[in-house]
Amino acid sequence: MHQDSSAVTDEDDPFAAFDLAVGVGKVQNPYPHFAQMREQAAVHRVALRAREAVIGGAAKGGSPDAELYGYTVVRYPEALGVLRDDATFSSAGYQASMGVMLGHSIVSMDRPEHTHYRGLIQQAFSRGAMHRWESELVREIVDRLLDPIVEAGGGDIVKAVTFPLPMQVIGGMFGLPDADLNSFHREAIAMVNMGHDWDRALQGSRWLHDYFLQLIQQRRAEPGGGDIISVLIAAEEDGQRLDDEEIIAFLRNMLPAAADTTYRATSNLLQGLLRRPEQLEALRTDRSLIPKAIEEGLRWESPITAIARTATRDVEVGGTDIPAGSMVTVSIGAANHDQERWGPTAEDLDIRRPSMAHLSFANGPHVCLGIQLARMESRVFLERVLDRMPRLRMDPDVDPARSEISGLVFRSPAELRVVFG
Ligand code: HEM
Repeated sequence: MHQDSSAVTDEDDPFAAFDLAVGVGKVQNPYPHFAQMREQAAVHRVALRAREAVIGGAAKGGSPDAELYGYTVVRYPEALGVLRDDATFSSAGYQASMGVMLGHSIVSMDRPEHTHYRGLIQQAFSRGAMHRWESELVREIVDRLLDPIVEAGGGDIVKAVTFPLPMQVIGGMFGLPDADLNSFHREAIAMVNMGHDWDRALQGSRWLHDYFLQLIQQRRAEPGGGDIISVLIAAEEDGQRLDDEEIIAFLRNMLPAAADTTYRATSNLLQGLLRRPEQLEALRTDRSLIPKAIEEGLRWESPITAIARTATRDVEVGGTDIPAGSMVTVSIGAANHDQERWGPTAEDLDIRRPSMAHLSFANGPHVCLGIQLARMESRVFLERVLDRMPRLRMDPDVDPARSEISGLVFRSPAELRVVFG
């Protein structure tokens, strides 16, 4: 499968917008604060800013308290409990925020609707399908993105590879024609960047709606393809299929779910390894450590540190009473560094750490649908970097502050300037 890599032109560089949103040089490290919170209590009552109440979906018409205060869960066992108890902690609050942009998709559905649609959609993400995408698509894209930086002897691997990679993979999985990729990437990135420019994101969302609708109609006319859109059209459960709007909602949902997260995850892990050359060298000599390294990277620096739920009834968690209608934030970042689970070295990256489940892909019924795809992309990226960039290291002429991982909810380094050889 071939994709045109010249998709992004300089005057319309989508990375520039991301750069702005990430904030080059602006280092925010929430982990010391998370540690303090964990020490004090499993669950904290926090005053909500208006924006958070909207984003998290605190219920209007619930208890008056629920519009002013939210609850943040910071210890691992309680965070896991909230994510598993979807009857008490609803995902419907996302509809009023992300839902405006994405449509009604599985991330904002509760049972039984969620079970039905997830069953239909996950048919496109089987293990067999992932093997095929790896050999037919992902390896080729990784290599094509690496080519210029390998030829140049180094460069900013975030801008050149980790940022464009997941979006190009999605374009390939959707089976988009080469001629459309430029516009698709531009509009998709505008929509994913909703935290930075909401109006532009809405424009992107509308463009994608119309574009996907036209593609779905074409594929319905010529069924039987192996791309994600064709698989979703054909997916069937209990005699039911997805209609056009349901497919569009999922395709749009996949863009932030799959691109933003995977780009940050691969960047974070590589940053951690570059700053710990001994661990990078261990990976080089023992490739069987790669899957462990990927999970540890996700635990250590989760690309998303928080997700939201809404309490459907009065409930007590970890000794704190939470009234019905309250927004409940599950701090994945805080829970993933819980020393009760990972011991005194929980704050650091250690790829040899004994494997233990983390919460970066969430847990329970809404556990990430793209786990296999995310792991596969990260693995192929690491394998090819190790194959093609011997003695990889940070560019010693660049201020290390520029590669600091930053951000409160979405975290990644703004750039990683590397040299090798
Ligand atoms: C390292 C990369 C990724 C991370 C850290 C990640 C993380 C997450 C998290 C935390 C959730 C739960 C959200 C919530 O319930 O509030 C989620 C859900 C989801 N993810 Fe991922 N994700 C990643 C990659 C992907 C990829 C590649 C896809 C591609 C299909 C994907 C598709 C989804 C979907 C569709 C959901 C909604 C599942 C549901 O609500 O049942 N994710 N992801």
